[in-house]
Amino acid sequence: MQELKLQFLKELAAAKTAEALEAVRVKYMGKKGIITNFTKTKDLKTLSSEAKQAFYREYNDLKSFAADQLKKVVPAPGGAAAAAKKGGAIDLTAPGAGRRLGALHPITLTQIELEHIFEGMGFSVYYGPEVESEYFCFEALNIPSDHPARDMQDTFWLKNNLILRTHTSANQVRTILKAGAPLRAIFPGRCFRYEAIDPSHENTFYQCEGLVIDKNISVANLIAVMKTILGEVFRREVKVRLRPGFFPFVEPGFELDLNCLICGGKGCPTCGDGWIELIPCGLVHPEVLRHGGIDPNEYSGFAFGIGLTRLAMMKYGIRDIRYLNGGDLRVNEQFSTIL
Ligand code: PHE
Repeated sequence: MQELKLQFLKELAAAKTAEALEAVRVKYMGKKGIITNFTKTKDLKTLSSEAKQAFYREYNDLKSFAADQLKKVVPAPGGAAAAAKKGGAIDLTAPGAGRRLGALHPITLTQIELEHIFEGMGFSVYYGPEVESEYFCFEALNIPSDHPARDMQDTFWLKNNLILRTHTSANQVRTILKAGAPLRAIFPGRCFRYEAIDPSHENTFYQCEGLVIDKNISVANLIAVMKTILGEVFRREVKVRLRPGFFPFVEPGFELDLNCLICGGKGCPTCGDGWIELIPCGLVHPEVLRHGGIDPNEYSGFAFGIGLTRLAMMKYGIRDIRYLNGGDLRVNEQFSTIL
C-alpha cells in the first residue's frame, strides 16, 4: 500500500492540467480505480481477523488520504466557469477558486529521485517493515547479541521483543532470501535510533540501502556506482573521500564522506569539520551471504547505506535536521514546484 500511495502521489504531483488531474482521479479512485478495487486483488481469506482488521484500517486510511489529496487539487464542479456555461450571473468580485497544491516533503523528493536514478541503472526497489525482528536487524548481519557493535546503534525495543529498525540494512538478508542472486536492489525507508538530537542527528531518519550481488564484484564496482549516483543527484562534481570504517556485515568496510555543500568544506554546525559522513559501505561479508543461502565462493557483493535525510539536507541546503520532522509547513511549501 505504501508503494501504491507513493505511486499515486508521484502521478498526482506530475499532473499539471485539469485533464491530467481528472485522469489520475479516475485511474486511482474512479469506479474501476486501482485504490477503489485494491482489496479485490488481495486474497484476504487466509488472514487472521486481527490481520484483516489492520489491513482494512490501512486501506481505509489510504482511501481517505487519496480522497483528501484529490479534493485539494481537483476543482469542484460549479464555480465561475459552470455558472457562465449555464448563462447565470457571474460575481466578478468573488475571489478566485484558487488551487491549493500540496508539496512533497524534501526527503520524499530525494527518495523519488534516487529511485529513478537507481532504476535507470537496473536496480529494483524493495520496502521492508519498520518494525523488525532482532534477527534481520542484527543477527543475520553478523552482529550476535553479545557483539559490542550492537552498542553502535541505540535501539528502541518494543514489549513483544521486536524492534524499530535501526538501519535499512535489516532488508539485506530479507531481500536475498526473496530475490536470490544475482541481485541489484535498493531499499529506501525510515529508521529509528535512541539518539540525542542535534543539528545532524534525529531519532527518526531515512536511509537508502543498496545491495549488489554478482560474480566477481569488487571495490572498484562500488566506487564507480557511488560516484555515478552522487554526480546524478547533485548534477555537478562533488568532492568525496573514502576512509576505512567498521561494520560487521561488510569486509572491507568504508565511510564515504562528502565535502560539505553548506559551508564549502570550511566547517560549520551541520558538518563539524567540513566533511559529512554520507555513505557507509563495503563488500558484503561472507557470513551475510551465507545467511541468505548464497555460496560466498561463488558470489560476492557490495552494500551501501546512503543517509537519505542527510542527502536531502545537502541537496537543498537545509542546515538543521530538526526542520525536517518539525511539522512546520513553511518548510514543505518551499518545495511545491520542484518535482
Ligand atoms: N547500516 C549501517 C548504518 O546504519 C550503514 C551501512 C550500510 C554500512 C551498508 C555498510 C554497508 O550504520
